[in-house]
Amino acid sequence: MRPLSFARRLVLMSRRSFSSSPPRDIKRPRLAGLTPDDYRNGVMLAPMVRSGALPTRLFALKHGAKLVWGPEMVDKAMLNSERVVDPVSGTISYNGKQERAMFTCHPVEKPYLIFQVGSADPDLAVQAARLVMDDVSGIELNCGCPKPFSTHAGMGAALLTNPDILCSILSALRRELPPRISISAKIRLLPTQEDTLALVKEIVNTGINCLTIHCRTRNMRPRQRALIPRLKEIVDFVRGLGRDVAIIENGDCVGFEDARRIRAITGADSVMIATAAEANPSVFSPTPLTSLEDNFILPYLRLCKYLDNKWASTKFCVSQFKGRKSANKKMREAVIKAKDYADLDALVESWTGSDEFAAIKAALDTRRSAPPVLLPADESTPPPPPVPPSEGEETTSTTATTMTTTPPEWRGNPDPAVVYDAPLLPANEHRVMIPAGVSKQDPGTPTPIALSGPAPPARCIRS
Ligand SMILES: Cc1cc2nc3c(=O)[nH]c(=O)nc-3n(C[C@H](O)[C@H](O)[C@H](O)COP(=O)(O)O)c2cc1C
Repeated sequence: MRPLSFARRLVLMSRRSFSSSPPRDIKRPRLAGLTPDDYRNGVMLAPMVRSGALPTRLFALKHGAKLVWGPEMVDKAMLNSERVVDPVSGTISYNGKQERAMFTCHPVEKPYLIFQVGSADPDLAVQAARLVMDDVSGIELNCGCPKPFSTHAGMGAALLTNPDILCSILSALRRELPPRISISAKIRLLPTQEDTLALVKEIVNTGINCLTIHCRTRNMRPRQRALIPRLKEIVDFVRGLGRDVAIIENGDCVGFEDARRIRAITGADSVMIATAAEANPSVFSPTPLTSLEDNFILPYLRLCKYLDNKWASTKFCVSQFKGRKSANKKMREAVIKAKDYADLDALVESWTGSDEFAAIKAALDTRRSAPPVLLPADESTPPPPPVPPSEGEETTSTTATTMTTTPPEWRGNPDPAVVYDAPLLPANEHRVMIPAGVSKQDPGTPTPIALSGPAPPARCIRS
C-alpha cells in the first residue's frame, strides 16, 4: 500500500474521522466480569432516557457512583444500528438509520457500565446484547417502564404480568452470553407483596447477578412516595433463597447520606438514584457540589464538546441541572439561547474538555487499588471523611440535605429514542491542554473510601 502523503496525513489528523475500531492509544479495560459483589455497597446511577447521557455518566462515576446504567434501548432499534468509533475521543456511537448516536459509550466507563435493553423477545434481546457486549460489563432487562411506548409492545412493566416471557429473556441472556457479561433486571413492586415475592423468586432463579427494585408499583406516579419499607421483606426473602443475587433499592434516594438511611431501612445491598442525579450528577459524593452554575456547568459543557456529545442532548441535560435560586443565570440563559457549541465560544473561552476527561480517567484509575466506595456497613460507621474542597469549589455535606423525596416538579419519563454521545481520552494534538490545577473547574471528588460488609439491620422507617 502506498504511504500517505504528508498533506493527506495532516488532513486526517485535523478532522474527526470515524472507524469501526477504537483508536490504538486507548487501552481496553481488562475483561473481568462483574460479580454480585460488584453491585454491593454502592450508590448507583439509574438508567435514564435522555438524562443518562455519556457525559453525565462519567461525571457520576467521578463523583462516586459505583456503577452506571445507560438509558433503555429497544432491542430492534439497536439491531438496526451501526457502531462507529471516534478516533479523537474514543467515543463509541451506535448510529440509527435516522438518528446519529442513539446510544454512545466510552471505553473508560466500560468496567462500570450496564446496558439496559427493552425487549419482549428472548432472541431479539440476545442479539441486541451481543451487539454491545464488548463495550459494556453488564446487560439489564428493563421490566419496569410503565410508558405506553414500552408496554404496548409487551416490554417494560408489561413483563411484570408476563413472568414466563420475562424469565425466558433473562434465562436466554444468561445462557447465550459469556460469563464475563453480568445479567440483571430492574422491576417495580407488584400491588401485593405476595405476588411480588413470587415474581422475585422466579427472577432470581434465572441466574441473574443483580435485581433492582423500583419501590413503586406500575400505576404509581413519580410524585408518589416510594414504598421503601416494603423492600425489607423482599431482601430477607431473597437471602433466604440462598441465591447470590445483589438487591438494589431504587426510589426517592437523594444522595449519599440518604442512601445510608434507605439501606438501613431495607437491608438492600445498594441504592440507585435517578431524579436527584439528573438534577445534580455529583450527588453520589458525601460532599456533592452545591453551586452547579459556578463549578459544574462549564466543565460539563467542555466535556460534552470533547466527547462530541450531540448539542441537543447537552442542552437538555444542562436544563435539568438544579442550581441555587440565587445563582448567576448568565450561563443558563446562554445555553438556552445557543444552537450549537460554537454559540458558547465567548462564554466558555477555552474548550478544555480533554482536561475534564483526563480528570475523570484519573479518578477511575484510582479505583484499581482502592475500590469506590460507598455505603458503610452500618449506621454507626461514620461516612468517609469529606474531601476538602479545592479552591473555587463549594460542596456540602448531604447530612444537611433537606430534600427527602423525588422532587415534585418531575415531569415523567420522556420518550426514549434520543441519543447520547460520549468521549474520551486520547490526545488530540489540535487542542490546548489546560491541567485541572490551572483550570480549577470541577476539581475531582476523590472516590470515597470503600466500606464493605453485610447490610445493616433495619433501624428506622420514615413515615
Ligand atoms: C428522565 C428519566 C428517564 C428514565 N429512563 C429510564 C430508563 O431508561 N429505564 C428505566 O428502567 N428507568 C428509567 N427511569 C426511571 C428511573 O430509573 C427510576 O426507576 C425512577 O426515576 C425512580 O428513581 P428516583 O426516585 O431516584 O427518581 C427514568 C427516570 C427519569 C427521571
